[in-house]
Amino acid sequence: MMKTIDDVAVEGRRVLVRADLNVPMDGDQIADDGRIRASLPTLTALVNRGARVIVCSHLGRPGGRPDLRYSLAPVAARLGGLLGQEVNFPGDITGPAAHAAIATLRPGGLVMLENLRFDEAETSTDDMARGYFADQLAAPVDLYVADGFGAMHRKHASVYDVPLRCVSAVGYLVQAEVAALDRLTAQIQRPYVVVLGGAKVADKFDAFGSLIATADRILVGGAMAFPFLAARGLKTGTSLLVPGQVDAAARYLEQAAPGQIELPSDLVVATRIAADVPRQVVAADAIPADQMGLDIGPESAARFAAAIGTAGTVFWNGPMGVFELAPYAAGTRAVARAMADGGAFTVVGGGDTGAAIRALGFAGDAFGHVSTGGGASLEFIQGKTLPGLAALET
Ligand code: 3PG
Ligand code: MG
Repeated sequence: MMKTIDDVAVEGRRVLVRADLNVPMDGDQIADDGRIRASLPTLTALVNRGARVIVCSHLGRPGGRPDLRYSLAPVAARLGGLLGQEVNFPGDITGPAAHAAIATLRPGGLVMLENLRFDEAETSTDDMARGYFADQLAAPVDLYVADGFGAMHRKHASVYDVPLRCVSAVGYLVQAEVAALDRLTAQIQRPYVVVLGGAKVADKFDAFGSLIATADRILVGGAMAFPFLAARGLKTGTSLLVPGQVDAAARYLEQAAPGQIELPSDLVVATRIAADVPRQVVAADAIPADQMGLDIGPESAARFAAAIGTAGTVFWNGPMGVFELAPYAAGTRAVARAMADGGAFTVVGGGDTGAAIRALGFAGDAFGHVSTGGGASLEFIQGKTLPGLAALET
C-alpha cells in the first residue's frame, strides 16, 4: 500500500508537493480554476500541520524554455487567494531565488516554483538529464507528496524521478482518484459506455485498442470523430484531422463489433472557429468542403444521450465540440445532462472536460467522480501502469 500524507510526519519539514495546476488560460487569466481547487485539501492539511510547503507544477507545453505566457504566477496568486494566505513566488525552479525562498520558508508557509517545463530536463527522454534535474528538485526537500494525478501518466522528472529519490507519500487528490477509478478496472457495472472527444486526439487514440475489449459502446465526438468519419470514406471538409490517424481508425472500426463504435450522424459546421459566423447542421456525409465540424449535431446528441441513459457505468473524456463558444456547446451539454440525470456510475475525466461541465453550470456532485486527469484517467482505466504511481511503489 502506498503511504498517504496521514502516515507521515510533516511538521517543520520541507515538503515538495507535485500538483497538476495545468489550468486552461485565456491570455493571462485563469479560465477555470478547478485543478487549483482540487489541490486545496492536501495543501490545507499540510499547512495546518505546520509543514514548509513547496508546490510545483507544469503549465501548458512551453517547450523546455522560459516563456512568460506559461508562467505560473497567476496560478500562485489564485492559490493564495483561495487559501487566504500568501504564496511566495520566486519566479524560478531550482535557481538562487527558489533556494532563498525555500530557505526562509516558515512552518505553515508556502512557496510555488515556476513552471517545471521551463527546463527541458523535466520532459526529457534522457534518464541522465531528468535525473540531474530531479536531484536538484529533491535537494532541499524532506518529503515528496504526489498529488498531481493529471500528470502521473508522464515519465517526467518531477513525476517519476523525484519520488525515486525521496521519502514519498500520496496526497488526498491522488488517493480519491485511485479509489474512484479502480471501480472502472474490475467488476464494471454494465452496460459500460465510454464517451470520447476533445482535441488532443493523438494522446488518446491508442485507447481504442483496449476499450474495444472492455466497453460495450464507445461514443465518439469532438475532433476524435473525424479520423473515423474519414475512415468510413466521408469528406470532413476543413475539420481538425491528422491524416495518419485515418488508417488506425479504419483498423479500430474493423476490430470493433458492429455498432460498438458510434460516430456522429450529424454535425454543426461553420467556416471557422468563431461564435459570430454563419453555421448550420448537416448530415455527417454532407460536410461542405470549406467548413469544419465544431460540435456534434442534435440527432447525434439525442442518440448519445439515450445510450448514456441506459448505461450502468459511463466514462467520459473530452468535450463533443468547441464548448467554450455557446453555439457549439449543445453536444457537450447533452452528454453531461444525460450523465447527471441517469442512474449509472459516472466518471468525467480531464482538464478540459471538467472545465466544460463547470462552465455549463453542472455541479461536481452531479457525477460519480470528476477526475482531474484526462490522459491519466484514460490510461488508468486501461490498466496501464502510470509512471507517477509506479515510482511510489518502489
Ligand atoms: C493535462 O492537462 O492533461 C495534464 O496536465 C498533462 O499535461 P500534458 O498533456 O501536456 O502532459
Ligand atoms: Mg491531457
